[in-house]
Amino acid sequence: MPDRLDLPPGFRWGAATAAYQIEGAVDEDGRGPSVWDTFAARPGAVRDGHTGATACDHYHRYPEDVALMKDLGLDGYRFSLSWPRVLPTGAGAVNPAGLAFYDRLVDALLEAGITPLPTLFHWDLPQALEDHGGWLNRDTAYRFADYATVMADRLGDRIPTWITLNEPFVHTVFGYALGTHAPGHTLMFEALPAAHHQLLAHGLAASLLHDRGLEVMLSNNLTPVEPASPSAEDAAAARAYDALHNRLFTDPVLLGRYPDLSALGVPDDIFGAIRPGDVDLIHAPGLDGLGVNFYNPTRVAAPSDPDLPFDLVAIPDVPHTAFGWPVVPDALRQLLLGLRDVYGTALPPITITENGCSVEESTDPDQPRIDYLAAHLDAVAQAVAEGVDIRGYYTWSLLDNYEWAEGYHQRFGLVHVDFATQRRTPKASYAWYRDLIAAHKARHAKQGLVTPL
Ligand code: FCB
Repeated sequence: MPDRLDLPPGFRWGAATAAYQIEGAVDEDGRGPSVWDTFAARPGAVRDGHTGATACDHYHRYPEDVALMKDLGLDGYRFSLSWPRVLPTGAGAVNPAGLAFYDRLVDALLEAGITPLPTLFHWDLPQALEDHGGWLNRDTAYRFADYATVMADRLGDRIPTWITLNEPFVHTVFGYALGTHAPGHTLMFEALPAAHHQLLAHGLAASLLHDRGLEVMLSNNLTPVEPASPSAEDAAAARAYDALHNRLFTDPVLLGRYPDLSALGVPDDIFGAIRPGDVDLIHAPGLDGLGVNFYNPTRVAAPSDPDLPFDLVAIPDVPHTAFGWPVVPDALRQLLLGLRDVYGTALPPITITENGCSVEESTDPDQPRIDYLAAHLDAVAQAVAEGVDIRGYYTWSLLDNYEWAEGYHQRFGLVHVDFATQRRTPKASYAWYRDLIAAHKARHAKQGLVTPL
């Protein structure tokens, strides 16, 4: 596989994590509570009652983790900043110890030759803001802009590119519509004001980051949607799902308009959340790069329950990951080509900001992960060959970590973590990824030598 993979010379190799999933130290050095601390403490909310209280203890062990990244040969590391560590009540007083942690982490990365790629919000909203409605409250968008300003003023001298939000689709649907993630609301489609307020937060922060000369990306969870049959009913259901999962979070940013959500019973103003000028605030700053998080495609059929606009159905005859997610690598190629076809010149360069799979802990030598990553990178290379501008690939994840409602049960890491001892052990996929990166760099270095001056 390494020798076949044809990716451009400057292609950036990375790995991704998120604060609540790895940092631990939830009560240390002045960090405030987040919605995930509250949710994980709720009986039955997370499998086996697991919490992120210790997670990978990355807050203390980051030097070891940065050393693992350096040995891997990473160009970039995507991580998230913990809003409640920096602003314990979400707004107002800044916690100097929280800022100091990110200073240390960023300096360690730079010293290792790794470009930090921070995400400002990866789902760990300060609980104090949730107490005022969280993302259902428009004010949270303005608090996010203030938080983005604090972080950019502190770290913007060392970090050129920033991701505002991680997967507002997943956060809205799991956190506000279905209640399977924090903060645990079950509002169904009435959750969608939370989506608009996150997009507004993105737009406000993007402007402020641009004012400081920084580049801005947004990481969306995207999925190609396929109708279960050629029937008109299944096609309509697939369109409705595509609008909800993909277009709702990408059209306003890239095209300056919301998709038609009427099939979901959602009014044009998203239950009064959209105010005049909002869509312009979201669109006008522009996007320097689209972060694509891809795990699997989605198959959709006409609803069996007349109160719902679609049914999600299984994809038969394909392998599934330990999490039960279907493995269809070519769907990533289709997604990337589809983005170019739908958005045309409005599409900025793409970076794959998450892709990976969970594998059973007992699986040795981690072959399913190697196969998954190899096949998906091949799909990326094919999309590049077909003309899509893709700048980098950040695998999810560097370390086994706290997988939200699944607790520590789903292992997505290139590095095994023994959560009892915090011992890190690189897996076979770590060595495979390291060799792949090294082969890519060696090939281009060699080609560089024969390039005429
Ligand atoms: C994504 C999340 C990430 C991780 C992976 C498996 O949806 O962004 O935090 O949980 O799924």
